[in-house]
Amino acid sequence: MRATWRRRVCKGLGADVTCGEMALATNLLQGQPSEWALLKRHPSEDCFGVQLCGGYADSLARCAQLVEEQCCVDFVDVNFGCPIDVVCSKGAGSACLLKPQRMQAIVRGMSSVLSCPVTFKSRKGYHDGQDMAHTLIPQAAGWGAAAVTLHGRTREQRYSRLADWPYIKRCVEAAEGTGLQVVGNGDVFSFEDHYRHLEECPGLATTYIARGALIKPWIFTEIKERRHWDISAGERLDMFKRFCSNGLEHWGSDSRGVETTRRFLLEWLSFTHRYIPVGLLEVVPQRMHWRPPAFVGRSDLETLLASDNAADWVAVSEMLLGPAPPGFVFSPKHKANSYARREASDLAAAAGAAPAPSAAGPAPGGGAVPAGAATVAAAGEEEEY
Ligand SMILES: Cc1cc2nc3c(=O)[nH]c(=O)nc-3n(C[C@H](O)[C@H](O)[C@H](O)COP(=O)(O)O)c2cc1C
Repeated sequence: MRATWRRRVCKGLGADVTCGEMALATNLLQGQPSEWALLKRHPSEDCFGVQLCGGYADSLARCAQLVEEQCCVDFVDVNFGCPIDVVCSKGAGSACLLKPQRMQAIVRGMSSVLSCPVTFKSRKGYHDGQDMAHTLIPQAAGWGAAAVTLHGRTREQRYSRLADWPYIKRCVEAAEGTGLQVVGNGDVFSFEDHYRHLEECPGLATTYIARGALIKPWIFTEIKERRHWDISAGERLDMFKRFCSNGLEHWGSDSRGVETTRRFLLEWLSFTHRYIPVGLLEVVPQRMHWRPPAFVGRSDLETLLASDNAADWVAVSEMLLGPAPPGFVFSPKHKANSYARREASDLAAAAGAAPAPSAAGPAPGGGAVPAGAATVAAAGEEEEY
């Protein structure tokens, strides 16, 4: 997650390990302050890594050297999973999966200059139907990698269809006896998901949670306490308050700091509205890919927090940060906050409309999603991350 102050919320809710958002080697080597800011650690992050992304072993080794000299980190992760076109077209991110020799050179180069462990993030493969992570994993410890986080999708697949956990299991088995730890990633959205994967996949080091942490950061508390938390809308608002106060502490409380904090809050609210309160569910737990019909919450605030209308997210930001500047509009940067087209059509194929929240009804502020919308195409384009 990008901002240290956003990861702070997750730490406060029980996250064990945190990692900074990917920093591009070329930008770091140019000395761009905004890129270096991605490598900052908050004192609450007691096990913290940074993630580097690039297409060339020499520039990544140089970055690793700079991280070694200037940063305080527990591990350095290499991104071999990013699917974004501008990254892949430069031979970085998941494009590296097409060049295993280059992956090897990158990991070897970085581990030779770092005193902390080197880990990497991967997808199943680049092209659909051509899974290859299982062929690399047995070699990766020999390159100097300590762990891999495996996202159970290909680059071509982006976020469509469910993450392939049987394949993750196959990779865990392929790593057996090599010393490489395998962390599984994809669609973990409840404590039950987490423990089921650990049980079904002996040898899995742990799970890695991305969208789950954005949509419901208290997932870490649920995992620790092995329970579903029927969190109230007031408690969620308190969480946003903490987020804003962390943001203002970081950016300053002048108008620029307030508006920067507002932007980050709005990006976050564009994910959090997907949460369906446990107390309203007919079937527990909620699944990541469910697209519920619009529902009325147990309070006006709960209904407001469920709205998928950006104007309502701005209204929430105004409750915490005061009025937005005149003419202010917001459209989210990441499309992964919406539901992928193919994900929705997969659901249709499985005739699997999301079980309706029991208090179904129209959402406020024109944010209504038609009943049965689990079978309707996504609001946005297929997302980039
Ligand atoms: C907003 C957003 C930003 C992301 N940024 C990164 C990133 O910087 N580095 C990375 O390796 N993965 C990134 N990811 C991908 C996630 O780490 C993860 O692999 C993917 O979302 C699947 O996991 P999930 O089902 O738990 O979300 C990002 C995902 C989202 C939604």
